[in-house]
Amino acid sequence: MELTKEEEQMFVGEKGEGIQKAMEIIVALGKIYNAEKLVQVKNVQVSGVSYKNLGDAGIDFLEEWAKKGGKVSVKTTLNPAGMDLENWKNIGFKEEFAQKQLRVINAFKRMGISPVCTCTPYLIGNMPHFGEHIAWGESSAVAFANSVIGARTNREGGPSALAAAIVGRTACYGFHLNENRKADFIFEVKCEVKDFSDFGALGNMIGKVVKNKVPFIKGIKESNQDNLKVLGASMAASGAVALFHIDRITPEAKLKNMMNDSAENINIESLDEGYNSLNSDVNEIDFVSIGCPHASVEEIKKIAELVKGKKLKAELWVTTSRYASEKARDYVNIIEQAGGKVLNDTCLVVAPIEDFGFKNLATNSGKAAFYAPTYSKLNVRFGSLERCINAAIKGRWE
Ligand code: F3S
Repeated sequence: MELTKEEEQMFVGEKGEGIQKAMEIIVALGKIYNAEKLVQVKNVQVSGVSYKNLGDAGIDFLEEWAKKGGKVSVKTTLNPAGMDLENWKNIGFKEEFAQKQLRVINAFKRMGISPVCTCTPYLIGNMPHFGEHIAWGESSAVAFANSVIGARTNREGGPSALAAAIVGRTACYGFHLNENRKADFIFEVKCEVKDFSDFGALGNMIGKVVKNKVPFIKGIKESNQDNLKVLGASMAASGAVALFHIDRITPEAKLKNMMNDSAENINIESLDEGYNSLNSDVNEIDFVSIGCPHASVEEIKKIAELVKGKKLKAELWVTTSRYASEKARDYVNIIEQAGGKVLNDTCLVVAPIEDFGFKNLATNSGKAAFYAPTYSKLNVRFGSLERCINAAIKGRWE
């Protein structure tokens, strides 16, 4: 692999130990994937932030890297942590978990990263431009960045994203290259796809077929940013999809020759299979989680309208970024008056949810519904926002 003079200096340690460690990771990845060179990145999103996933070994790894002088050189944000970084005590996170989580965040801070913890950096003003090379880690954010924005990123692991943030480069392979951005499957959607949860069900179905490849989706009449974010999240969960195209909607779908000659055609006549596979048969609901991927201001507003003046029977968590909840302060107040909780910086999947004793979850997210049975040991009901909020009010799925 070809390195510039400066990259070579980083690699041999002339710029310090922290930078050398980062360059070693980037070069090793480049060799594995036969990259010919590195590309500059100015925007990084680091996953692997929750102590639930990192454990003590992860804390040691980060603290040691910080001690070696690892410092980010480009704009870097973090994926959700395992708790609300400010309000964790009131919400009920355990002290022991919180202290470990704060050590993780402090290690990132020492590396020059401000603790902006969200899986939707594009909703807080961090919007890369079309064709820009970036290094993002969170699977749903990667799908959004590649597909909806037309930026270019592989799905980085925690250490490789952090390494890219430190040296401002990543190895040029995979989705950084034109030839890997063409579709391998063409889906013709023949049924109506309207609601946020419809997009989640559709994503679940497509991901299971596509498995790591690129789908081109036809037949979607309209969508919005929130629907596209959950479509990508769902496909990433069920099939590790990192890039998709939607006819007339996503930017690269409008380019010529975006399908491989061997692309397979598949029709989708109904969303039933997606809904059925994400639903259990429980009826009593003790926990409702909205905000996977992190809720936008618009979603927080819709929730507030649905709970206004009501008293909730089930625990309601709305997970979002600190930026969105501050912008939606009046709506957050309405949700809290009804007994709901708006959590910043975290989410259902990366929080130590088992500590809270919930059993039966209702969610409108195809990704949360996919992961909750295994990651959080919860029975799941999956459906529209209206149905989920109704379940929060009545404690029952109807
Ligand atoms: Fe984001 Fe957590 Fe869902 S990281 S995409 S809210 S699982």
